[in-house]
Amino acid sequence: MSQLKLSKDYWSSQTVFIMAAVGSAVGLGNLWKFPYITGENGGGAFVLVYLACILLIGIPVLFSELAMGRSGKANPVQAMANIARENGASRLWTLLGFNGVLAGALILSFYTVIAGWAVAYFVESLQGGFIGIDAKGVGEHFSHLLANPFELLFWHTLVSLFTVIVVSKGVKSGIEKAINFMMPGLFLILLVLLGYATTTGAFAQSFNFLFAPDFSKLTWQAVLIAMGHAFFTLSIGLGTMMVYGSYLQKDYSIVKAGLWIAFADTAVALLAGLVIFSIVFANGLEPGAGPGLLFQTLPVAFGEMTGGWFFGTLFFALVIMAAFSSSISLIEPAVSWFDQNWGIKRTKAAWILGGLIWFIGIGTVLSFNEWADVHFLADRTFFDSIDFITANIMLPLGGLLMAVFVAWVFKDETRQQELSLTAGMMKLFLVVLKWITPVAIIVVFASNLVSEEN
Ligand code: PFF
Ligand code: NA
Repeated sequence: MSQLKLSKDYWSSQTVFIMAAVGSAVGLGNLWKFPYITGENGGGAFVLVYLACILLIGIPVLFSELAMGRSGKANPVQAMANIARENGASRLWTLLGFNGVLAGALILSFYTVIAGWAVAYFVESLQGGFIGIDAKGVGEHFSHLLANPFELLFWHTLVSLFTVIVVSKGVKSGIEKAINFMMPGLFLILLVLLGYATTTGAFAQSFNFLFAPDFSKLTWQAVLIAMGHAFFTLSIGLGTMMVYGSYLQKDYSIVKAGLWIAFADTAVALLAGLVIFSIVFANGLEPGAGPGLLFQTLPVAFGEMTGGWFFGTLFFALVIMAAFSSSISLIEPAVSWFDQNWGIKRTKAAWILGGLIWFIGIGTVLSFNEWADVHFLADRTFFDSIDFITANIMLPLGGLLMAVFVAWVFKDETRQQELSLTAGMMKLFLVVLKWITPVAIIVVFASNLVSEEN
């Protein structure tokens, strides 16, 4: 029997773990992606499907993934090897780990590009560039940024470099500190923006757009996107939470942590949506504007409100931090795999991976200008293709396999030891994990294959 490869670092407390996991979950997915895909997919019904996916798929998979990580005590590839052996299952389960390592790297390749937009906006805001700006001015500013591949490449490079430097410094020192003030700060500033949103005169319209479902607009493609986003936003299905769980001490509650992560993540997304669509409707903008939505709306608020320079600059600083705490967690499955399985030290691993991810990211940079009309998967740009393959295929597939593993392969004692549920709750959890979560994922996949409505 080969030597078990274990994670040796532990989180210094339950709170630190929750903060880091929330830091991974809350990011561009909430502030940038959720609003724009909600706008593109017609609002209410899409949001309702997304919330149902969080509840019936996301939370059960999150519990499962954390439990698998703590039980497997290693990076996703090795953790799968460890728990497959311990539970008498096939070595093929390690493929689930590879899927995650690859998905994390692919997501990071565009994540740094979008985080780069936030850095560009931070600098612009700091210099007073958004003072008194109106919707038209913001729109022009954004188109200008996107049209310039070298500028995008510059910010993408800067963010990639910074990610590599933070990651090479290790789990604890790198992640723990910044998150402590980033999360509360982000929440507070969203509340300030919510206050502003109520003065725009379009708050009720925004609320209705998000929460009044119109199912006639819903397609299976939209359901797949909503489901994919539930995985993306909770950082599940690819092994990030598995690695984070591997650093988790035995007596910490996975269920409690998981519920906090899901709650905080959902709250931030809905708040961001409410604010952004208030600005959209108050200024006659297009809800389906696409990936630029956040960047074409929020500066309007900062341009108009009192203290706009301060709040705007602070907001983009917080977006950058939220993006960083997620970027770090996206590369962590691969870095810990290099480290534990190949003996490639953290620093070297971070540089190798960072370089590769930076290179793939150039495709995303170009997809907003030079390659805007070059199509890869069906009618998708390079960016849209990578986003689609990862969020809508690789993560749900990974999550499906995780649910199956914990429901069907885990020994009863292991499952109980990791989750410490009462007998009644465990019964309920198992019903969901065996019959609802996997079936829902398969139905959504299958419906998309059958109905070619894209
Ligand atoms: N959950 C992050 C967000 O919503 O921005 C993105 C992400 C981070 C996805 C880490 C996956 C992951 F492993
Ligand atoms: Na998120």
